[in-house]
Amino acid sequence: MIDTVNRRIVLAERPQGLPTAKHFRLEEAAVPRPADGQVLLRTLYLSLDPYMRQLMDETAPVYAASVGLGQPMAGGTVSRVAATKHPGFRVGDLVLARAGWQDYAVSNGDDLTPIPPMERPSLALGGLGMTAFTAYVGLLDIGQPKPGETVVVAAAAGAVGAMVGQIAKVKGARVVGIAGGAEKCRFAVEELGFDACLDRHDTRLAGHLDAACPDGVDVYFENVGGPVFDAVFPLLNIGARIPVVGTIAHYNDAAPPPGPDRLPQVMTMVLQKRLRVQGLVILDHYEDRFEAFRRDMQSWVADGRIKLTEDVVDGLQNAPLAFIGLLEGRNLGKLVVRVLP
Ligand SMILES: NC(=O)c1ccc[n+]([C@@H]2O[C@H](COP(=O)([O-])OP(=O)(O)OC[C@H]3O[C@@H](n4cnc5c(N)ncnc54)[C@H](OP(=O)(O)O)[C@@H]3O)[C@@H](O)[C@H]2O)c1
Repeated sequence: MIDTVNRRIVLAERPQGLPTAKHFRLEEAAVPRPADGQVLLRTLYLSLDPYMRQLMDETAPVYAASVGLGQPMAGGTVSRVAATKHPGFRVGDLVLARAGWQDYAVSNGDDLTPIPPMERPSLALGGLGMTAFTAYVGLLDIGQPKPGETVVVAAAAGAVGAMVGQIAKVKGARVVGIAGGAEKCRFAVEELGFDACLDRHDTRLAGHLDAACPDGVDVYFENVGGPVFDAVFPLLNIGARIPVVGTIAHYNDAAPPPGPDRLPQVMTMVLQKRLRVQGLVILDHYEDRFEAFRRDMQSWVADGRIKLTEDVVDGLQNAPLAFIGLLEGRNLGKLVVRVLP
């Protein structure tokens, strides 16, 4: 059954710093009608991801478009085809889409990926989808951990970090996580099998990290930046690899951080320690690497070597607060919104 109303959450105001509820607005509009060659999509699950904060700014990152004021927030979804005027899709098909923060959207099919039948389709957004894929490509293609090496990753109980640590364990590395608080650290060690995990809010983080990495750091999977980077940087070994996928500690910055310009010091260390620092935008890798990821991840999950962790929030209307919570570190595992109960 198709509703008559399309609920959507639009960008009401551009935030300076951390967004609050006033930067979003819940609106009701008519459900769009598919034209010839289009499908109507019903959103089942919406992925909430840190990059969405950058899309709220006027100047978006190089790989994505900024959200216009009054426009629905952008985002990846698991959607069901609710009506079709496209020969390639049938009503009921499940697809990975970019329908955004709304109940319904139309698509001409170009941006849709069919999802095979699965018990928990939301996993196509996280543990079997984009965030785990980012961990896989970043760690294996750039980080290249060898057995016995030390891998450090922050946001260790989050969507990407939890996967980085678990894949590094599969590859025989020693894994030290960093996460926000004791409960997340307990989760990373006891549930995900990390060797150690340290609280990023502890003022003694640098000392604790030094003690937890007696042989230095061979791979630092950079997904946060900020003070965590400062703590890890002196511990990097000669020849260390640093896949850079995100700098969430800076997404709410309204101005460059205060203090002296440390770029010369960082570049000198990159040279002296022969560091390999490489950025990764996961959109670039689907064609070449997704099939290998899918195969490996399915077998690791089936063997019990990797756990898929999700934080599911109910109701589209709760997406803004859940998203703010993500930026504040309140999620445990991949954050998704169940849009259709
Ligand atoms: N390049 C790509 O293609 C790509 C793809 C996916 C994700 N990413 C990036 O990967 C990173 C992790 O994304 P995710 O989806 O896995 O999110 P997530 O880890 O599930 O959630 C974000 C986590 O970041 C941590 N965090 C928030 N503010 C922080 C701060 N000031 N300093 C340190 N940590 C902070 C919080 O964890 P704690 O409180 O536990 O520290 C929070 O739970 C983000 O930077 C994201 O942009 C990049």
